[in-house]
Amino acid sequence: MSTQEKSIQTYDHYISQLFAAEDDLLQATRAEMQQAGLRPINVSASGGQLLHLLALLSGARRILEIGTLGGYSAIWLARALPADGKLISLEIDEHHAAVARRNVAQAGLATKVEVRVGPALATLTTMQQAGEAPFDLVFIDADKDGYIAYLQKAVALVRDGGLILADNTLPDEVLDTNADSGTKRYNAAVAAHPALVSTIVPVLRRQGFDGLTISIKRALGA
Ligand SMILES: C[S@@+](CC[C@H](N)C(=O)[O-])C[C@H]1O[C@@H](n2cnc3c(N)ncnc32)[C@H](O)[C@@H]1O
Repeated sequence: MSTQEKSIQTYDHYISQLFAAEDDLLQATRAEMQQAGLRPINVSASGGQLLHLLALLSGARRILEIGTLGGYSAIWLARALPADGKLISLEIDEHHAAVARRNVAQAGLATKVEVRVGPALATLTTMQQAGEAPFDLVFIDADKDGYIAYLQKAVALVRDGGLILADNTLPDEVLDTNADSGTKRYNAAVAAHPALVSTIVPVLRRQGFDGLTISIKRALGA
């Protein structure tokens, strides 16, 4: 482990123990994911707390998540919802979805969280065609090559004044002018989008630091 990684871990530990201590249910969620053979590519506890805080700040009643894995970030987000709130999470892998549903139920959130299985782009298109009610917050955290397409759907599905968040948007290649990647394309598209006001917030991770791109959708002409 490099000195930089060690100190990033130390800072992340400081933030997490003060603001993002995991309760038994979040710890059990990670344990269940490990037992079920899922890779630990969920957000960190401090990242989960950031999502939770943004959901509260936006007064979210309806949340859309793209990329469920074992339900870890869904639990952080759903805990910010009011009693009649709803989170719909999209996942391509049946096994991941089954683990997530178990974890969500254990966390007492089964009535608020719905996991829909299938390729996210197809599910999003179906939702759009079905006239799905607008979301207050969309969290994008699935395959990076899909990010641009998810952005278009997210802009259509989020209300004016709602938030669009995208995870893992500050990998090393963003600094390489010759590199091309889904996240680089996503960040460029968000920056150029006339309806979005955005920035990237660097976030600390076990493996170093990464980024969360945060956008608010304003009404065009407003
Ligand atoms: C980084 S993980 C999500 C982590 C989760 N948000 C958390 O922090 O707990 C990405 C997930 O997206 C799913 N995924 C990948 N491609 C997908 C696609 N095309 N449609 C829907 N889900 C997809 C993967 O199976 C995986 O479970």
